Amino acid sequence: MANVLRIAIVDPNDSTREHLKSVLLGMGTVWLEAECSRYEFFTDVVEQTKPDISFIAMDSNPQRATQLVAEIVKNTPDCTVLVSSNSTDGQLILESMRAGAKEFLTEPMKPEDLATALQRVMRRHNGNRDSVSTECQILSVAGATGGVGVSSIAVNLACALASEPDHSVVLLDLDLALGDADVFLDTIPEYTLADVAQNIDRLDLTLLKKSLTKHHSGVHLLPRPIQLHDTRLVTRDSLQRIIGLLKTSFTHLVIDTSKSFTPLDFLAFEESNDVLMVTQLDLPCLRNVVRLMMVFDESSALRDKVKIIVNRVGEDNGQISLKKSKDTIGRDIFWQIPNDYKVMVEVRNNGVPLVEHAPKATITQSIRQLANALTGKTDENEGETDIKARRWLNLWPSRKVSAEK
Ligand SMILES: Nc1ncnc2c1ncn2[C@@H]1O[C@H](COP(=O)(O)OP(=O)(O)OP(=O)(O)O)[C@@H](O)[C@H]1O
Ligand SMILES: [Mg+2]
Repeated sequence: MANVLRIAIVDPNDSTREHLKSVLLGMGTVWLEAECSRYEFFTDVVEQTKPDISFIAMDSNPQRATQLVAEIVKNTPDCTVLVSSNSTDGQLILESMRAGAKEFLTEPMKPEDLATALQRVMRRHNGNRDSVSTECQILSVAGATGGVGVSSIAVNLACALASEPDHSVVLLDLDLALGDADVFLDTIPEYTLADVAQNIDRLDLTLLKKSLTKHHSGVHLLPRPIQLHDTRLVTRDSLQRIIGLLKTSFTHLVIDTSKSFTPLDFLAFEESNDVLMVTQLDLPCLRNVVRLMMVFDESSALRDKVKIIVNRVGEDNGQISLKKSKDTIGRDIFWQIPNDYKVMVEVRNNGVPLVEHAPKATITQSIRQLANALTGKTDENEGETDIKARRWLNLWPSRKVSAEK
């Protein structure tokens, strides 16, 4: 089971053990190998099951639990020990760490804190075995003006990512007032971002996953609220928690952001690995990119995430040249997506993603290659159409466009 950590837990307290189990069961990256309600049996359980992680809840007997940490570290040195307690006593933390615990989690435990600790363990673990990334990659798609193609790119990028068997993808529609990701996927979701935000106090991974709508492409959708006035239920804090939880069980999170550049959109950008800034080659769009980049440039953390995506290249309406556009915005153009009005209208009106409706179309190949470029994958199955697509897009041999036209 690649990229899954096997975990054994011990907690004499039935209620906290059940809670821990339900949190772990919601995580796609962990396999509950064994559970134990008695400290005295746990060393044997670990020796027999050889989990990657031993989790020791300390509160039933902190002293005994600390001894147990030391025993496990001594007997099974390959096993990473995590502990939890509702005490923030520095002495207890110090003793558990000295005994060999790698992470100390505070009860009541937040799923996202556990997930972050597990990711650190996974990184160390993979450092020894392979270099597969286990962290969720967050991609926000933003636009320099309305109708520039943000939702088309976000939805179809999510579907392209989901077509890889080792990916699990969630699409979050953060265009709270007018988002239409559900229409693109022809789905009628039962729950929305507002329902999840409303239940934030009792939200765990199980509930969050139940609130997502699974599309047959593999993409899980969390759509915008149905009622306009419910948009206010989505706060910065609730969104932060929702993103934090989604991160724990998906390999990719794609966010369709609004054109209002609200604090929620900026939270999404802060949380993202990459911010795809979609523009077209006309003056109002390029001028907005310059204005937006002035804001992004204020923070080096944000500035470095931005990737300029030029959409509808080749549209016959007197577009500004790529070279001039690049000079105007003062940045490289990361990707070009061709204009294909016919196919895009069809996929939108039929609610079918590009990968399904027109898998061989140049625009589909372009988005698929964009997904590969963003995830660092090389396209082993690159066929004739792909080569044509790249050549047409002037992307050969580098993925960055030199912007000559
Ligand atoms: N590469 C493309 N070629 C042709 N048409 C496109 C392309 N990308 C998007 N479109 C069309 O542009 C229109 C707007 O696209 P989309 O809804 O994705 O933009 P948006 O930026 O999300 O808009 P909004 O500001 O309303 O959220 C749609 O009709 C879509 O079919
Ligand atoms: Mg949109």
